[in-house]
Amino acid sequence: MQVWAVANQKGGVGKTTTAVSLGGLLAEVGYRVLLIDLDPHGSMTSYFRYDPDELEHSVYDLFEQVQIDSARVHRLILDTSHEHIKLMPASTALATLERKAVAQEGMGLQVAKALRHLQTEYDYVLIDSPPVLGVLMVNALAACKHLLVPVQTEFLALKGLERMVRTIQMINRARKHKLPFTIVPTFYDRRTQASVISLRELHKRYPEHLANAVVPVDTKFRNASLKGLVPSSLDAGSRGVHAYARLLRSLVEQR
Ligand SMILES: Nc1ncnc2c1ncn2[C@@H]1O[C@H](COP(=O)(O)OP(=O)(O)OP(=O)(O)O)[C@@H](O)[C@H]1O
Ligand SMILES: [Mg+2]
Repeated sequence: MQVWAVANQKGGVGKTTTAVSLGGLLAEVGYRVLLIDLDPHGSMTSYFRYDPDELEHSVYDLFEQVQIDSARVHRLILDTSHEHIKLMPASTALATLERKAVAQEGMGLQVAKALRHLQTEYDYVLIDSPPVLGVLMVNALAACKHLLVPVQTEFLALKGLERMVRTIQMINRARKHKLPFTIVPTFYDRRTQASVISLRELHKRYPEHLANAVVPVDTKFRNASLKGLVPSSLDAGSRGVHAYARLLRSLVEQR
């Protein structure tokens, strides 16, 4: 089982889209994929037509007690529009977690512990995380073997990226093995100065971490989310899907 997380402390950079797109491409070739929504806003949960305000069970359940048994994990898992993709949904209750004292201590490995019960059931797990450094993002970073950091190709995004890279360095001090990470440029529009210059800057600053694929601005992503379909099910030939397919190939080769 391969576990990847998608994170950036900046909002609206394409995190959820990256997780859903890669998950969709993996599912399309027959892999068993689990998507985990760790964002209290529940964008990924809403993407697949579940209401984060209404769900009886969600990843919140994993934070109710330190011990996690198999039944607690399995009761969370929902079907999606794609037969090979399952979803562990978020609920709005997750927002209260950061404030609870119990959440701060001894709760950093809850998602990693849950995944131990699913080792043989999935080939790929993709974790979507909120744009805030807190117990949920810490869980995502602790549970994954590879981190994807989508970065919008615009001027302000690079500042946000610096913050995220510092977070990764901090996490690495507590890890036995350094967490490999890949920076994924998103919302690229080669007609704009901002896109061209910030991509050049990314090449200069992070040559060893920069993905070989650049995700263009593509309205198909929004259309896919409106329909509750993974982008490759809506339009496998779109430019955006092509970019994620290229990214996926390089990630699989790195393993
Ligand atoms: N490459 C793209 N081109 C055009 N639209 C995109 C692209 N990637 C994502 N979008 C759209 O932009 C919006 C924000 O994307 P997304 O939800 O993936 O970002 P996010 O980083 O997960 O945001 P948040 O921090 O709020 O969770 C969505 O409506 C999505 O459909
Ligand atoms: Mg999101």
